[in-house]
Amino acid sequence: MTDEEERIRQTREILRGHGGERGKLIPILQEIQARFGYLPREAIKEIAKFMRITEIEVLGVATFYNQFRLNPPGKHPVKVCLGTACHMKGGVNILEAWERRLGIKPGQTTPDRQVSLERVACVGCCAMAPVSVVDEEVQGRVSPTRVDGILLSFELEKEKGEENSK
Ligand code: FES
Repeated sequence: MTDEEERIRQTREILRGHGGERGKLIPILQEIQARFGYLPREAIKEIAKFMRITEIEVLGVATFYNQFRLNPPGKHPVKVCLGTACHMKGGVNILEAWERRLGIKPGQTTPDRQVSLERVACVGCCAMAPVSVVDEEVQGRVSPTRVDGILLSFELEKEKGEENSK
């Protein structure tokens, strides 16, 4: 079974637990994302068939809400907090710093699948604003230089991994 077939199989399994009413679309999307970490293309197709709506309609709902991703997450997920406290402390500049260095926008993953970027609401560490959550670890008082440092550590880790696999 290919990866794609396996994702279809698992999607069907999730759909079997739901009714086809419209109101179920968001819980279904949430469950699919919890399973795969994102909404795979083939899952969108299956959902559309199951709910008797078009793929465009499913995508419309999925892209309306910030919580859904259409790309697989990267090895290093980066979440930039734009809650009130982080916003006041320049969170937008930090998001821009990540975007510029990675060449991607929130909801996207770098082509090498190393880093994915997301914007999130308050993660509960306002005293440390501006905050980025990197690899599920809270990084406080992030500056553009700190962003460079974190990315450098990813690079070093990748090089080390490549050396070890030689
Ligand atoms: S607003 Fe960013 S942690 Fe609270």
